[in-house]
Order: sequence, then C-alpha cells, then structure tokens
Amino acid sequence: MKVDGHSLVLGIIGDPVKHSFSPLLHNAFAEAEGVNTVYVPFPVKREDIEAAVRGAYALGIQGLNVTVPHKEAVIPYLTDIDPMAAEIGAVNCLVRTDGGYKGYNTDALGFIRTLELIGADVKGKECVMLGAGGAANAVLHALLNSGAQKVWVLNRSADKAKSKFGHIDKVEVLSMDEYGKIPEGGLFCAQCTSVGLSPDVEKSPIADPAFFKRIEKAVDIIYSPEKTRFMALAEENGCAIVNGINMLIYQAVEAYKLFTGHSVSVNGIDRAKEIINGASHT
Ligand code: ATR
Repeated sequence: MKVDGHSLVLGIIGDPVKHSFSPLLHNAFAEAEGVNTVYVPFPVKREDIEAAVRGAYALGIQGLNVTVPHKEAVIPYLTDIDPMAAEIGAVNCLVRTDGGYKGYNTDALGFIRTLELIGADVKGKECVMLGAGGAANAVLHALLNSGAQKVWVLNRSADKAKSKFGHIDKVEVLSMDEYGKIPEGGLFCAQCTSVGLSPDVEKSPIADPAFFKRIEKAVDIIYSPEKTRFMALAEENGCAIVNGINMLIYQAVEAYKLFTGHSVSVNGIDRAKEIINGASHT
C-alpha cells in the first residue's frame, strides 16, 4: 500500500478496536480498486468521544466507522444524520461534510444484502429475531423495512427487550424460552445474540429441535466461527443457514462508497472475503 501526501485518511473509533476486521476490509478495497485511501484503528474511550470527533475533523480525516460501544454516544457530536440512522438510533459511519460529520448506518443495508444473497424474501412473512443488543437494532429495522409481517423478538432479558422494542408496531417480545408461543413452520430467523462467538463455540442461545422446526431459513450474524453451533443445529433440523460474513462485508462496502464515492467491485469483495476467512482462522 502506498501512502503519500494525497492519501485520504479513514479509520474506526471504538473500544476495543484491536479485533476489528474493518482495517483489513477497507485497505483491501483500496488496493483492489486502486483508490488512495488508508484506514487505521483509533481506540477511543467513552469520555473522549467528543474530543475524538472534533480532533478527527480538524485533522482532515475523511471518514470514520464507529463500533461498540459508541454507536449511539457519538450522535450528539454530528452536524447531520441520515434518516435511516436516526430511525435506528445508531450510527456506524461518519462522513466528512462542510462543517462536520454526517452520521449513517450501513449495518441495516449489510443485513438486507445478506437476505438478498440467500434469497430470503421476508415481505409478508413472520420472522424471529434472537437478541436485543446493539446489533439487533439495525437487523430489526432491516426486517421491518423489508416488509416483515411480524417480528418475534426473543431475548434472555425480556424486560430489556420490551423497553427497547416492545412499543414498535408488528413486534412481539418474549423471553428466550418462550419459543413455544411462536407459530410453527416457515419462519425466517436472525440470530443476533453474542452466544456462540469464538471462543465459546459450543454454545447456542437455543438448542431445542422444537424451536428449529418453526424456522426454514436462518442468518447468524456471527462470522467467527464460520459455522456456529446455532447454525449446525438449524441445519440438522433442515434449515437453510448462512453466517454474518456478508453483513460485515456489505456494511463496509456501503461505508466505503459513502467515504470515497467509489463502489467496490466483485473482485474487491472476493479479495475482502479471502482476507477475512484467513484472518478469522488465525
Ligand atoms: P451486540 O452489540 O453484539 O448486540 P450486546 O449489545 O452486548 O452485543 O448484546 C448481546 C446480546 O446477546 C443481548 O441480546 C444479550 O442478551 P441480554 O440482553 O439478556 O443481555 C445476548 N446474550 C449475551 N449472552 C447471552 C447468554 N449467555 N444467553 C442468552 N443471551 C445472551
């Protein structure tokens, strides 16, 4: 990678950022597309968010991704926010504009792209979403905006999920063990808890075949390991399954376009997938 006086600087702020795949992805895009950008990790503590955003702007940084736990906390320091990000209530992307940064959320777009890739048309369908953490916001938004007829949200802490999502039209919140209340057969499922993430690969938020009988397609937004225990159980019960790698990659593709105006080609996407697969096995 050549960095010179013309390089546009991009980066990610979060705490921690060491394990983020975003630098690998964005630098792979730059190389594949021949665009002069350089992308670096910036560990930022919660109390330093305002200083970090103002400092980044003063330094001429073109764009920043925002990761846990700052996706909501960064919003007061933006000069503008995209309507979709405002609806989701979280931004994962800051784009330089005159006078400050505009916030976007490309996580929901990444999830919608994943649905398209597996041919999951949720329009008019009932869906199940497991989890109500940060990642669930964008997924729920994507499901409802893709025309889901109803979304059953199952979470370990039902009260927390109720206070976040209980007021939303077409959403019904249950605790994780109340899956018996969900209708049988044909549902789409989005697994958005952190259960089963490396190194806890033996865990699954639900293991009962009675749950898997209710669903026909499932996305687990985890991508490390490549196949979670949840995915293996779903597959054993006849479900089509896919992991979260495409959500990760396509949220970055959309972010790169917002940062630079350049679309990422199929070649760039394939290169990014190779890099992520290699990195998640080390
Ligand atoms: P993220 O930003 O990845 O969504 P998060 O905000 O910490 O991370 O949310 C993690 C999700 O996984 C939550 O839905 C959490 O359930 P609670 O709201 O009850 O905490 C869920 N989760 C984490 N560990 C879990 C476990 N051992 N069993 C069931 N759900 C779990």
